[in-house]
Amino acid sequence: MADTHPDPLQRPLPDGIVPAEVVARTEKRWLGIMVAMLIMMMAVVVLTGVTHAISPPSNVETIDPTTLHLGGEFAESNLGTAQERDGSLTVRLIGGQYGFAPACTKVAVDTPVKFRLTSTDVIHGFLLPATNVNTMIVPGFVAEVRTQFNRPGIYRMPCNEFCGAGHHGMWARVSVVPKEQFQSLAPTERSSCVQQ
Ligand code: CUA
Repeated sequence: MADTHPDPLQRPLPDGIVPAEVVARTEKRWLGIMVAMLIMMMAVVVLTGVTHAISPPSNVETIDPTTLHLGGEFAESNLGTAQERDGSLTVRLIGGQYGFAPACTKVAVDTPVKFRLTSTDVIHGFLLPATNVNTMIVPGFVAEVRTQFNRPGIYRMPCNEFCGAGHHGMWARVSVVPKEQFQSLAPTERSSCVQQ
């Protein structure tokens, strides 16, 4: 009988005990699955970054947040949508506790849009749901994100970075209108859909 073998290691294991080599094989298999999952998740991060142009705000462009209103790119008269020579649009916005200026931005559909944003006070967030736009607005820096809207409509623009007691009420809109509705602007003109 096998269970009376003179060498105890050669006797069959009692019920419920898994032999060491089976345990080792199972552990190796699970290790392989874990490594494959890690590689897959890393690949998803890299692929979405490349194909959907989702990237952290990497352009380290500095600006003095205390003098924004005095002149330069983020002076009040320069905020809103500007049209570039090539027909693309540049939108300049300021985030501050607790709102965006301008609070409604108008852009054309199927047109490259570049958002340039900065903050007057603390860190805010700029998120356009269902697009690749999602960036932090850090005081002292200019955040730049590029996108293109393929459907006309109103896109809500919530602040998605906790910025204080009024954070939940900090939001604005982007109004995407058909190209023909978007009047061609003179190089110095700025457009917005804030009610005059
Ligand atoms: Cu601004 Cu939250």
